[in-house]
Amino acid sequence: MAYENIRLEQDGAVATLFIDRPKALNALNSKTLQELEAALNSIGTDVRVLIVTGGGEKAFVAGADIAEMAALSEAQAQEFGALGHRVMAKLEELPIPTIAAVNGFALGGGCELALACDLIYASEKAKLGLPEVGLGVIPGFGGTQRLTRAVGRARAKELIFTGERIDAAKAKELGLVLEVLPAEGLLPHCREVAAKILKNGPLAIAKAKKVIEAGADQDLRVANELERKTFGELFGSADQREGMKAFLEKRPATFTGK
Ligand code: CAA
Repeated sequence: MAYENIRLEQDGAVATLFIDRPKALNALNSKTLQELEAALNSIGTDVRVLIVTGGGEKAFVAGADIAEMAALSEAQAQEFGALGHRVMAKLEELPIPTIAAVNGFALGGGCELALACDLIYASEKAKLGLPEVGLGVIPGFGGTQRLTRAVGRARAKELIFTGERIDAAKAKELGLVLEVLPAEGLLPHCREVAAKILKNGPLAIAKAKKVIEAGADQDLRVANELERKTFGELFGSADQREGMKAFLEKRPATFTGK
């Protein structure tokens, strides 16, 4: 499918989704969000890792599109927020690992997009933040919730109340970003991480993601029960038989995701 504001490229089992509207620093307008939703829905079972990054030199995504939002009525803003939330939830719930390669500004909706990914790596040039209160609103694509879960209440409140932009090193210190790379090394690093993931059982990874995500919203006993059940279920899979047989035969496993 041809998109105007995004690009979806695939290299083997790794797909890279570029938000590619550099003239507006990749700001998320409705069209871009709709294209993102369509692209995420189109991802086939042959894709086993998704990298999300920004097109152009300057930005990952500089936020939701302020020019579009400025004129929204309350009812339209409810719809716009719902669309953004749908995209972030779709991304978060993909049954494959997702990696945000934050190559520049990741502000507002851009920071929220990164937060909906499983892993966040950033370039030395990256700047992250949730500056919405400076516009008289609050984060609207999950930032109040996902940032709080990522860095804790007090840090999330500090970032949201001040609207402060932090650099990649500070974001790493907060545990928001996993590693900081030189700009030219960012995508290669994300691809190296993807290559490590690809060696492992796809079904096990999908289940691990599901149990981590579902468990995070439960108390420990309920969450551990989910793990126990899922661990046992995986013994009904071809991947478990192959993974353990390959280990005992001292050879690499060939997983089928079944
Ligand atoms: N929406 C719409 N357009 C944007 C944009 C945004 N979020 N961010 C940047 N742009 C546009 C600028 O208007 C400018 O367009 P023109 O060339 O047509 O004037 C172009 O991108 C380049 O931007 P700047 O000239 O501002 O570039 P800069 O280097 O001087 O500054 C910046 C970069 C600090 C990122 C600055 O652009 C900025 O502060 N952007 C807005 C950041 C922001 O507030 N994001 C949160 C949005 S609200 C939100 O996201 C709500 C939500 O949670 C759902």
